[in-house]
Amino acid sequence: MDKCEKVLELARRRGFFTIASELYGGVAGFLDFGPLGTLLKKRIEEKWRQVFIKQHQDFIFEIETSVVMPSKVFEASGHVEHFTDFIVECSKCGRKFRADHLIEEQVEDITGLEGMTPAQLTNIIREHHVVCPECGGELEEVQTFNLLFKTAVGPYTENIAYLRPEAAQGMFVNFKHLYYALRERLPLGLAQIGKVFRNEISPRQGPIRLREFTIMEIELFFDPENPSCSLLDRVENEVLRLVPEELVAKGVFEPVEVKVREAVEEKLILTEWQAYFMALATKFVEELGVPQKAQMFIGKPKEERAHYSAQTYDQMVKLDRWGWVEVSGHAYRTDYDLAGHMKFSGEDLRVFKKLPEKIVERKLIAKPRMQVLGKLFKEKAPLMANTIRESDPKWLREALEKGSCKIGGFEISKDCVEFVEEEVEVTGRRFIPHVAEPSFGAERLTYVALEYSYTEREDRVVLKLPRDLAPIQAAVFPLVSKPPLTEVALQIADVLRSLGYYIDYDDSGSIGRRYARVDEVGVPLVITIDYQTLEDDTVTLRDRDTWKQVRVPIKAVPEALERFLKGARLEELGVPV
Ligand code: GLY
Repeated sequence: MDKCEKVLELARRRGFFTIASELYGGVAGFLDFGPLGTLLKKRIEEKWRQVFIKQHQDFIFEIETSVVMPSKVFEASGHVEHFTDFIVECSKCGRKFRADHLIEEQVEDITGLEGMTPAQLTNIIREHHVVCPECGGELEEVQTFNLLFKTAVGPYTENIAYLRPEAAQGMFVNFKHLYYALRERLPLGLAQIGKVFRNEISPRQGPIRLREFTIMEIELFFDPENPSCSLLDRVENEVLRLVPEELVAKGVFEPVEVKVREAVEEKLILTEWQAYFMALATKFVEELGVPQKAQMFIGKPKEERAHYSAQTYDQMVKLDRWGWVEVSGHAYRTDYDLAGHMKFSGEDLRVFKKLPEKIVERKLIAKPRMQVLGKLFKEKAPLMANTIRESDPKWLREALEKGSCKIGGFEISKDCVEFVEEEVEVTGRRFIPHVAEPSFGAERLTYVALEYSYTEREDRVVLKLPRDLAPIQAAVFPLVSKPPLTEVALQIADVLRSLGYYIDYDDSGSIGRRYARVDEVGVPLVITIDYQTLEDDTVTLRDRDTWKQVRVPIKAVPEALERFLKGARLEELGVPV
């Protein structure tokens, strides 16, 4: 059994997670979480919230947007066109596979498949005699396959919508009104934790490649003329382990260690905000139990980047079975998404920036033709005129080159607008904010935390989860299952539960077996009530990781637990046993 298999066995046996719909054979790419897994994943999400949102609550705000979004959103975002993988079908058994993965599995040392066309991949399949791994049959031509999950809203099949593949689009489509609601300030971060869906062709990496997962994502909107991150000082001397994309393109995967400030100055990272979030990401993943040496950021060459990104670093973690695996992506999305939504919705999504003093400039002006608008839009004509005046004239002129375009929810034709160049006093500028995005997958991190905490001692499992991630925070055991020991133990469990802790109470079987059961699921502290408790109102505290014990008065237990979960050593809490 490799470590992954052991972790998956533990995850299933103790109720962390299993493959979804297992009763019916299971569906690859979907997970069902049990009680312990649900708590662990929530604690990881809460830690992310703490590191990325709560520490920045003046300018990063958590929102929650719909999972189902109309087709137009993903036409504008480029996902309908670009969110694809390559698929190949067996001509004999009809099974379908991801073409690049199949080639990698059957052709030794092949690289550079990213960015290839379906025809080029088909050629490689033919040249290297790649066949169906199931039946050995010949493969058809490679095709593209869109990974969006498609649905229809209501009873109208033409009302196409998609399950979102990223939370980001919820942030982009809400940007304008939230920018105003949040007092027109940049930088502005919109954040979400929520489910996303990707119809992967043939996910085979268990909990690592999922079709449904929880994304934890921030879109940080900033002024591209003022891109500095005021918080960079806080992390400037921290070290990032980077493989810049130029090295990746040459096949080098050895990270260089660079201080955050240097990485920005040397333009290894294009925006300060990205660099800042990458420093936080390193710390966050370290706090999930992964030492820095087992982490690195890999720069993605252009052909491997998502369509919207001018630069992407994937944060990678070394896993026992799968090697280096991505746990977060850090993309510089520029104005790609807002510009796309501006074009497709006809709404002006630019923000206005006042200049320090007025200047005179020759400017292209979009002048509404009131007579034409009056005929077409009647009482709505003044409103349309305003929308035209406030639009980006360059964009509008380009859009109207085709004859008509949509603006402010209405179709207007070329003759509704006259374009003139005039000298005007300029008091400010409108611009589309740029975006830096850190994006994490919560299920993958849950697996990572389990794998990194999985240890064995004396032939049994001790799950050394970071204490603040432990699903059950303490166990309360009476030494034997008899009153008054059980009564005292239940009282202590009740007090701790009323304070908000998750407590395991267990009075069945030998104390040794009970310790083993809770060690296996990572309970950091066990409180044991024994015969001495009846004499002097003290109990023992046992540390999961050292198996050492101390005695403390019952009344000191809540504070001791709080301190222990925050990192205190057991010896600081009581008298050694
Ligand atoms: N928004 C990040 C991603 O789609 O991976």
